[in-house]
Amino acid sequence: MPQPLTVLCLASYFKGGLFLEECHRQGCHVILVTEEKLGSEAWPGHAIDEFFMMPDLARQPDITHAVSYLARSRTIDCIVALDDYDVETAAALREHLRLPGMGISAARLFRDKLAMRVQARAQGVSVPDFVHALNDAQLADFMQRVPPPWVLKPRSEAGSMGIKKVHSAEEVWALSETLGDRRSYYLLEQFVAGDVYHVDSVIWDGAVVFAAAQRYGQPPMSVYQGGGVFVTSTLAYGSDEERTALAINQSVLAALGMEHGVTHAEFIRDQAAGRFTFLEIAARVGGAGVDKLVEMATGVNPWTEWARLEVAHLRGETYGAPQPRQGFAGLLVSLARQEWPHTGAFDDPEVVWRLEKRHHIGMIVASDDRQRVQDLIAGYVPRIAQEFTAVEAPLDKPPD
Ligand SMILES: Nc1ncnc2c1ncn2[C@@H]1O[C@H](COP(=O)(O)OP(=O)(O)O)[C@@H](O)[C@H]1O
Ligand SMILES: [Mg+2]
Repeated sequence: MPQPLTVLCLASYFKGGLFLEECHRQGCHVILVTEEKLGSEAWPGHAIDEFFMMPDLARQPDITHAVSYLARSRTIDCIVALDDYDVETAAALREHLRLPGMGISAARLFRDKLAMRVQARAQGVSVPDFVHALNDAQLADFMQRVPPPWVLKPRSEAGSMGIKKVHSAEEVWALSETLGDRRSYYLLEQFVAGDVYHVDSVIWDGAVVFAAAQRYGQPPMSVYQGGGVFVTSTLAYGSDEERTALAINQSVLAALGMEHGVTHAEFIRDQAAGRFTFLEIAARVGGAGVDKLVEMATGVNPWTEWARLEVAHLRGETYGAPQPRQGFAGLLVSLARQEWPHTGAFDDPEVVWRLEKRHHIGMIVASDDRQRVQDLIAGYVPRIAQEFTAVEAPLDKPPD
């Protein structure tokens, strides 16, 4: 009997249960390292061989010492970041333990919005015009050249100040004054008005072997800054917008050199020019129910596929790409006034999944008929907004 593969997963957010379960099903020894505050979440205990908690997964050198200590008595074969916040930590640990998978520079292209833009643009992918919010002359030149509005945004996770839409150079200079030394962690870019799309992919040997394309109802920024119902739904298969979204997704993945794994990429279709432009990409499964949305539409769950391909890769086996169904689904999520909202009144048979989360309401509708999904969404959004949506508080984490 060969030794089972040992897969160590980092999770600073409660997610990825299906990944852990599939690794277990494939006969791996599964180690989960999470944060103390997530200790009592509903992790799939039967699939986890060893469970560890830390106060803060990103704190160095603590996490390096902790994982290296585990490695004294275990042969860790791979390290996987279940949440976006863990991507860089996992990359640093791989480099430290000399394990396969994305190292620090490769992972950075999937975390740092400036790095991904520079790389994508260099490879000919359309991106919103941008500048690093660093050099005074370059910033001034950008603001001369590119008409406002612009967005000032953090390169990776929102620090002291989140993403901001700005309308004048004075505003930008005032904000950069406030940011002080934090300024180099930001970029300034053109605000591109238009619909926002997301493409969720599975990549094997540098090729996109599965991709699902969806459009958000309102752009996410309008939802989490203005309050309202977050909506996203499957595009029509073979339509111009689907084909264009899949094509730009493929160009981005090629430009960023993704070899194996899953991604969640976002694009804006410039309302004025009609063309797609690259917004951002992450080396993870889409959050806030997006994995379930993809599964309900296509029968393929990105978490499960990710586990299957990681294991196949480590074992030197071939990975049999999934055969998706061409169904349709729509996801609706909102912050709720009620602690545990009752969603029973949304009783159409197409409701295939409901979110169970405090002060949230969420559901997925699915059908083989795209129009039916669109009609259900159009009927449900005003009802959710009226009876459930909490308007004052922003979402604790923007849906992504
Ligand atoms: N250049 C831009 N033009 C128009 N809208 C933007 C732009 N950048 C970001 N947004 C809006 O802000 C949202 C969040 O931005 P994004 O870059 O995806 O960061 P994150 O999802 O990590 O917060 C987007 O979904 C979009 O609605
Ligand atoms: Mg985004």
